[in-house]
Amino acid sequence: MPKSDSPSKTPAANNEPKTPLSSPKVRTGAEKFAEISKKLREDLSFVASKSNAKIERVSTGIKGFDQIIQGGFVRKSTIMLSGGAGTGKTIFALQYLYNGITKFNENGIYISFNESKEAIYRHAQLFGWDFQELENENKFVFIKYEPHEVDTIITEGGGSIKDNIDALNVKRIVIDSLTTYTLLFENQYKESEAILDLFGILKRWGLTSLIIAEVGETEWQRTQDRSIFLSDGVIFTYYLRKELSRNRAIEVIKMRDTSHMEKICPFMITNKGIVVFPEAQVFGLIK
Ligand SMILES: Nc1ncnc2c1ncn2[C@@H]1O[C@H](COP(=O)(O)OP(=O)(O)O)[C@@H](O)[C@H]1O
Ligand SMILES: [Mg+2]
Repeated sequence: MPKSDSPSKTPAANNEPKTPLSSPKVRTGAEKFAEISKKLREDLSFVASKSNAKIERVSTGIKGFDQIIQGGFVRKSTIMLSGGAGTGKTIFALQYLYNGITKFNENGIYISFNESKEAIYRHAQLFGWDFQELENENKFVFIKYEPHEVDTIITEGGGSIKDNIDALNVKRIVIDSLTTYTLLFENQYKESEAILDLFGILKRWGLTSLIIAEVGETEWQRTQDRSIFLSDGVIFTYYLRKELSRNRAIEVIKMRDTSHMEKICPFMITNKGIVVFPEAQVFGLIK
């Protein structure tokens, strides 16, 4: 059965709380977006008022990026890395894990619902990141879930993943992607439940988690994504068109306990991976 957007299809979906996002039709997407941004800012000003002197940071080691977020992700936080296809999410995530192991002595795990281990390792090799070697040294583990196995993550409470985390003393995890993971549940209610379960499991494990999500092109579609509200941080990657060329850009729209830069920053994918330019201006339009 095709997945449905209609709340009337399942009785459970009717019981879902209505957010301001879904109610009045008269407001424009821009107005609704402004409302959500305001809410996020209030959230942020509250956390900014707390002393964050003792907050431990997990550096991504991605040139130019850590300085946008006061040195790194908050340890044990859950960060969503969102953007359209081909915007650089997988490369960012691989770089985060590779740097974690090789520069900061923090072992990593990659959970894939999309691409095979061979494809990912080959992709990483182009940037000089040898994940096979890290795997041989027991510093990294790659787990590929086939669609029919996805349920087991929830039913086992993450069982076999947890064994690997303990065995390798893993500190950083990547999930690629939340979108593919949720596609495997048959209706909206089960999908929401599965997302909540996944975020719950990640919190219990106490790792610094990066969750990749494929999201729509427009700002309005992006703010519709409910998992945004479950995450401690949200990053967007863009591939912007200007006339006959495109430019890459990255934006932090939410980062709990962090006074982050409120700017969309250009980045490049070089043969050594992603380099962000926090001081430069972005050319191109975000819809
Ligand atoms: N070696 C490379 N040098 C420069 N750009 C690259 C290289 N490899 C891939 N890319 C760019 O990165 C894109 C894929 O990035 P990826 O992280 O897989 O995207 P996503 O996961 O967001 O779909 C490609 O479409 C290409 O534009
Ligand atoms: Mg990808």
